Amino acid sequence: MAKRLYEELGLVNTREMFKKAFEGRYAIPAYNFNNMEQLQAIVIGCAESKSPVILQVSKGAREYANQTLLRYMAMGAVKMVREMGSNIPITLHLDHGDSFELCKSCIEFGFSSVMIDGSHLPYEENIKLTKQVVDFARGYDVTVEGELGVLAGIEEHVVAEKSHYTDPNQVQDFVGKTGVDSLAISIGTSHGAYKFKLKPGESVPPLRFDILHEVEKKLPGFPIVLHGASSVLPKYVDMINQYGGKLEGAAGVPEDQLREAARSAVCKINIDTDGRMVVTAVIRKVFVENPKEFDPRKYLGPARKELLELIKHKNINVLGSANRA
Ligand code: G3H
Ligand code: 13P
Ligand code: ZN
Repeated sequence: MAKRLYEELGLVNTREMFKKAFEGRYAIPAYNFNNMEQLQAIVIGCAESKSPVILQVSKGAREYANQTLLRYMAMGAVKMVREMGSNIPITLHLDHGDSFELCKSCIEFGFSSVMIDGSHLPYEENIKLTKQVVDFARGYDVTVEGELGVLAGIEEHVVAEKSHYTDPNQVQDFVGKTGVDSLAISIGTSHGAYKFKLKPGESVPPLRFDILHEVEKKLPGFPIVLHGASSVLPKYVDMINQYGGKLEGAAGVPEDQLREAARSAVCKINIDTDGRMVVTAVIRKVFVENPKEFDPRKYLGPARKELLELIKHKNINVLGSANRA
């Protein structure tokens, strides 16, 4: 009998969420957080837009915020939205877990979902590591995301992008041998603010929906995950640059492509960079306009407010997850 350690925190795993997202043709937002203001904006934004949500913690975020504090922050966030009268499902997920030990520790600390990212490993080693995590997670009814295909970095995108895409001929075998609950695939996105290197006048190339559709045929009804899905919104790039920043040539995935992905087998869309940019843009503006300001609430507060609006915008206008909880 599985011991659901995360139930005590008021969390759920992703199984039911993904089933509903698949059937309803929308995607669950997976937002990364590192601090209290980001967490507040995410959960309040999702509660106000009535969207299920996956709270993502990377290895770096876990080191930054402390694993014990993170556990109680997630628990507090759930309590806070319940007190607001919201019943949205909330998952606490490890983003890009890179070892069995890290996944095990997160599960024991109350995470309800983990990603084991063996995408950089040779295929058989990726299977072995992923299966080890799945076997352990089963005992706690924690859901596991695996990854096949490597997300292109900007260099690879230019030089040898093709070899990094997920091979649809491997997905059935990988899912069958590992038992993962969802699969992250590579169809042309990448992490960060510089996803595409564009010459003047050039527009962002379309994602490889042909690969996604091949994967869907091989794995009918199976939840697919899209990483590197920030849109790098021009409004915030411009704002950062206007207030002393230097982001040149930043480009992300256009929102209409994400809308299309959300209507497919993509059940989880990962967004971190867009949130980071909003926070940075607002803080830069406050400092330029009020150089005498030194109360953190006076710059973190406005940043949190703008981030909350971004979360609602994504849920309502891009992922289609609003009013699904
Ligand atoms: O996929 C990467 C996420 O954006 C987390 O980034 O490792 O800097 O926390 P991080
Ligand atoms: P972005 O850098 O596009 O926000 O991607 C985030 C991500 O994939 C986290 O795992
Ligand atoms: Zn990612």
